[in-house]
Amino acid sequence: MVFTGTTYKKINTAQVLDVDKVRKDFPILARRVNGRPLIYLDNAATCQKPRAVVKRIVDFYTRNNSNIHRGVHALSERASGEFEAARETVRQFLNARSTREIVFTQGTTDAINLVADSFGADFLSKGDEIIVSGMEHHSNVLPWQRICARRQAALKVLPCEHNGRLRVEDLDRLITENTKLIALVYVSNVLGVRNPVEEVIRRARARGVPVLLDGAQAVAHFEVDVRALDCDFFAFSGHKLYADTGIGVLYGKEQWLRILPPYRTGGGMVQSVGPERVRYAGLPLKFEAGTMHVAGALSLEEAIHYLRKLGFDSVRAHQRRLMDYAEGRLRALDGVTVYASPSRRYGAVSFTIDGVHPYDAGLILDKLGIAVRSGTHCAEPLMRKYGVGGMVRASFALYNTRDEVDALIEGIRRVQELCGECKSTRSLQ
Ligand code: ALA
Repeated sequence: MVFTGTTYKKINTAQVLDVDKVRKDFPILARRVNGRPLIYLDNAATCQKPRAVVKRIVDFYTRNNSNIHRGVHALSERASGEFEAARETVRQFLNARSTREIVFTQGTTDAINLVADSFGADFLSKGDEIIVSGMEHHSNVLPWQRICARRQAALKVLPCEHNGRLRVEDLDRLITENTKLIALVYVSNVLGVRNPVEEVIRRARARGVPVLLDGAQAVAHFEVDVRALDCDFFAFSGHKLYADTGIGVLYGKEQWLRILPPYRTGGGMVQSVGPERVRYAGLPLKFEAGTMHVAGALSLEEAIHYLRKLGFDSVRAHQRRLMDYAEGRLRALDGVTVYASPSRRYGAVSFTIDGVHPYDAGLILDKLGIAVRSGTHCAEPLMRKYGVGGMVRASFALYNTRDEVDALIEGIRRVQELCGECKSTRSLQ
């Protein structure tokens, strides 16, 4: 069962996803790049958008565009209503208790910065400690580094092993009476490893330490139930779930959001403003200063509806099968190193090709119409751990196919040939 909320019921779960049909929902997939059909394998960076999501954005701007929670005119009322309905859809998606626990943000990065700044302001002081893992995206390291420096607190790292396993047992040693929060990535954007967050939360709970989860790479790949997880904070981005960029969500337990101070201040987040005193609005508006990305929130609701119609379980099963297939084919290639070896990988797999710079590989693949990400993937500590300057990453979404995986494998062979030829030419000179 995906939701315990009232609206969503289990539907379509046993169906196999009709990928050919689904692909027609994504106009961009029909275009050619460098004269070749586009093979888009950079979904961990951002997903493509189905027509329904694009239409929802266009409909908003052509019919209802207005600011929210400010006017009494018809359009403003309409826009406010749609925005709050989107919040309720997100609440159900995460199975949060209340919409008071759902804050719209600009994305995962913004959500984590919100918690780091607000939590840091009131709950972090000299000598305190925050724990992150060794496989974080920079967006779950830098906000903590900065706030720790400001508050003279320490940032500690929970290590992971070469195979991608998080050393959860080290937590018992790392957590001290000064530990104020653990911030952990749910699924690594580089390795596709799903961390045992339930175990982390259990150990943290036993020592009275709150946990924030970076769910950016998780929500598209398996069910997230924040109540069952019992995490204190959960952040994700709309654009990695087929919605617009610039919209994201911070889930926070109400008891935390009540006591955290506002992050940004400005219009829309106050009840009253006097010459010296201000009364902030209730939750979640206290954290939503300034004009919100209304169309973005509606696009996120539409994306969730779209996935629900396809059947969350069918979508996730398709993505898992594709990932298993990609992993098998990549591992069978000579001269290719695949990083980490989890029993199941979610969404992304990273690799290097012997003797080939990841940027060269990315550029040659691009010439073949294949979009992958190459570089450090905003995870330099992890690159250092593996002793590489970068990796190539292929990441999958619901519209990808086995044929596209095959094309990637052929593309990698072509990269090996071309780079091999370059080397022999150079050695002749
Ligand atoms: N966080 C995104 C990625 O991993 C941008 O590519």
